[in-house]
Amino acid sequence: MLNFAIETARDAGQILLEKFGRKIDILKKGDIDLVTEADLASEALIIERIKCYYPKHTILAEESGEAVTIGGDKNWKWIIDPLDGTTNYAHGYPCFCVTIALENQGEIMLGVTYDPTRNEVFTAEKGRGATLNNKPIRVSGETNLGDSLIGTGFPYDFKQHVDFGRHLTDFLLKSRGIRRDGSAALNMAYVACGRFDGFWEEGLHAWDVAAGKLLIEEAGGQVTYYDGSPFSIYAPPICASNGSIHHQMLDVLGRSV
Ligand code: IPD
Ligand code: CA
Ligand code: CA
Repeated sequence: MLNFAIETARDAGQILLEKFGRKIDILKKGDIDLVTEADLASEALIIERIKCYYPKHTILAEESGEAVTIGGDKNWKWIIDPLDGTTNYAHGYPCFCVTIALENQGEIMLGVTYDPTRNEVFTAEKGRGATLNNKPIRVSGETNLGDSLIGTGFPYDFKQHVDFGRHLTDFLLKSRGIRRDGSAALNMAYVACGRFDGFWEEGLHAWDVAAGKLLIEEAGGQVTYYDGSPFSIYAPPICASNGSIHHQMLDVLGRSV
């Protein structure tokens, strides 16, 4: 199933690359939340493949709305973001990916995040570690928030997330730097391979974080809520890190006004 997910993510990523930088249809889902014909084409390919190879599995895909039960086996659920980083994509900013995870009875068993612009495939299998282009990856060994590079994302519905500005200011003051490049799934893959030491974000969805959670955990990192309790992909916000700076991040995120 991991090979299936890798091949499918690669083929979907190829669709994204082919349309990238060309004039394509862009629709607005909200004031600033976009969907392009590339999102739809990528998702159609992934769903078609799953229907073909795993016809009884359930699918949760961003652009198809709610969970689509094809054959009724709710134990197995594919969780898909066909294009994470749509705003980047629509503006020709080359930072986006395809991300696919497989959940079995509530547990994520595998995750694949594919960046077609760099030809980077991040994979994780429950209990079997994480890889980047077939080579094992580990989170960074950084122990000091002050020497850490931290990723985040700005929530689309910023007005609903009043604490975000305070968290951003605190992390700017207490870390080496903050990056916000518009793809939560890629950011989490970057924590898994040590490019980022930590990541936090508020208004995400299961398809943004499912593969990334497993990638980080299998690479030796930690993913929790802001109070340190266990994280569910279905109810962000998320605090993810290499584990060593986790408490320092929680101190920032948990601090009251
Ligand atoms: C978005 C990206 C972005 C994050 C947003 C997500 P999309 O996903 O991951 O980094 O800040 O919250 O919705 O819409 O490009 O698939
Ligand atoms: Ca997304
Ligand atoms: Ca998306």
